[in-house]
Amino acid sequence: MYLLELGGEDDAFAAREARSAAAGVDRIAPGLAVADATVPERVRGLAYTHRASECLGRGEADLASARAILEATAIDRTGSVAVRGTDVHGSTGVSTERAERELGQILVDRGFTVDLEDPDHLLRVVFSEGILESGGESSGRRSLGDGFESSDDDPDGEPVSVCALGWLVAESVRDFGTRAPTDKPFFQPGSMDPLLARAVANVAGARQGATILDPMCGTGGVLVEAGLVGADVIGTDAQAKMAAGARENLRHFLETDEPSPTGVTRGSWHVGRGDATRLPLANDAVDGVVFDAPYGRQSKIDTHRLEDLVAGALSEAHRVAPRAVVIADRTWAGEARAAGWKLESAFERHVHRSLTRYVMVLERRSK
Ligand SMILES: C[S@@+](CC[C@H](N)C(=O)[O-])C[C@H]1O[C@@H](n2cnc3c(N)ncnc32)[C@H](O)[C@@H]1O
Repeated sequence: MYLLELGGEDDAFAAREARSAAAGVDRIAPGLAVADATVPERVRGLAYTHRASECLGRGEADLASARAILEATAIDRTGSVAVRGTDVHGSTGVSTERAERELGQILVDRGFTVDLEDPDHLLRVVFSEGILESGGESSGRRSLGDGFESSDDDPDGEPVSVCALGWLVAESVRDFGTRAPTDKPFFQPGSMDPLLARAVANVAGARQGATILDPMCGTGGVLVEAGLVGADVIGTDAQAKMAAGARENLRHFLETDEPSPTGVTRGSWHVGRGDATRLPLANDAVDGVVFDAPYGRQSKIDTHRLEDLVAGALSEAHRVAPRAVVIADRTWAGEARAAGWKLESAFERHVHRSLTRYVMVLERRSK
């Protein structure tokens, strides 16, 4: 059993992304999930999971439970150790400093040396209290209709109090700040933030050996993140300026001799000017499609009404891939069903007061 420490403000979305790197993901408390198995290399590339640890046990969110778990655990390890604690959202008031000290002492009493700088084994202790939204990670929280779930408080949630201990297995690489849209060689308003871009790329199946397409790639934000976790990426955009700009960004971030922070080989990339409703690709040419539909008047749409553009893009995506992730300022769920997709899951993300983004995860309906 593994313990996942989630990040961001929407645990359901974080857990959905974590499923791209772990099996049997189940949320247990605010900011925490457990999983039956994880792929450390993929955990390193997650946006909304910070760490995966081999879980030693769980109890109530207090120091006595943490001590009891560690005292009861057989430790088949040698070398130096360190203990690091987190009180998720400051929700329990447990002193993590004291937890680190006391658990460290238990380990010392069992013959381990402490090395806070560079330990051979890092023990994580996490405390979390709050309301666990009903339905866990896969089924609905407060439904907003159309299969969408709100990240707002769930009145039907269950109060939980959790302490969990685990040996750190993998940490995600937190280098997203180096790819802020405004710092990229090519920037346009409406570019996607790299955290969300990485998460949707992961949900679409980005990984080494997979090919991911963004048929409305804009500045290439999603493609950069998919390429950094090893996927081969393909982009099209109706505007020549965007296609050229996306190439500039992809060249900058994917064609570098520096070793990739996540440890994987960066994917190859191809970008061309093209129409998302008439893709120059064979049936089943890619493993996953991601697109960020134009928002009303924000992006230029020369040849289509927005409804026709999205419907056409959904239909082409369905022809070339078994899975798609669509981000938009409205749900487009009816159009997705009409194009032959099944809504696997859907999330509503409040970007700021006047902007909500809807994320639809789509799977081909079996015929
Ligand atoms: C919201 S932006 C995508 C932003 C992108 N995710 C990023 O991070 O930069 C939508 C893009 O769709 C493109 N677009 C509009 N109509 C299109 C069409 N028929 N085919 C392909 N791209 C189209 C626009 O040029 C615009 O770049």
